[in-house]
Amino acid sequence: MPQQSPIGIFDSGVGGLSIAREIRNLLPNEDMLYYADSAYCPYGEKPPADIKKRVFSLCDFLLSQGAKLLVVACNTASIVSLDDIRQRYQVPVVGVEPAVKPAVAATKSGTIGVLATGVTLSGDRFSSLVARYCHKTAVITQPAPGLVELVEKGKIQGNEAEQLLVKYLNPLLEQNADTIVLGCTHYPFLRPLIENIVGPNITIIDTGKAVARQTARLLKQMKLSCHDTTKPGKELFYTSASQETVEQVVRLLWNDRSVKVKHMPLT
Ligand code: DGL
Repeated sequence: MPQQSPIGIFDSGVGGLSIAREIRNLLPNEDMLYYADSAYCPYGEKPPADIKKRVFSLCDFLLSQGAKLLVVACNTASIVSLDDIRQRYQVPVVGVEPAVKPAVAATKSGTIGVLATGVTLSGDRFSSLVARYCHKTAVITQPAPGLVELVEKGKIQGNEAEQLLVKYLNPLLEQNADTIVLGCTHYPFLRPLIENIVGPNITIIDTGKAVARQTARLLKQMKLSCHDTTKPGKELFYTSASQETVEQVVRLLWNDRSVKVKHMPLT
């Protein structure tokens, strides 16, 4: 029964858990497989061809485990490979892209800031988002190397993260951005720190809830939604990196001390 099959979710690492938690909230009965490609993280500084190759391996793995739908819970991977994934596989695919459209709708100053990886910001998909929605809105882009690495280590609080965030957020604030897009799925885990730095007058936008809604819509449309509404959905977590290290961080970010992560190297 494909309806009882799991949703397959992946990211370069643990960042996609910010998407997975919204899917869990919205779809409490669906089983989920989550693959954290932490051994190859960060994707954001790698050549797009290398990212694509990795992404195909992860999709192949999740499909071999019975995934009925794929969620590319990574802006960088979506920017470079979403069209190819959709061409290559039969299952429905949900991607993630920086929430430029909602930010344009929210800004009052007419300037938005987008925090994302270098690969995301230089991708054609991102340029076309800007071309489509930002006729009357100024867009300041800010690559943010180092943030993903901190989240991968579970360092979502403290001086190191705060100093780096101040360095990346100040230029956006100085140029009058009143709306900031978190264009990388790792960044929502830094949201409390970001809110502290920018203060209450700045709108922060991430895509987790929208991606969860799109996942639910697509499952329904394809008649793939789980029928059993009596049992809570289960999660299985996999990683290409050290099981122990990733398990600790997944437990922190997933807010569950009992989570188990399986080491699953893929070529
Ligand atoms: N979570 C990925 C994204 O949304 C992180 C990218 C990286 O690994 O650099 O872009």
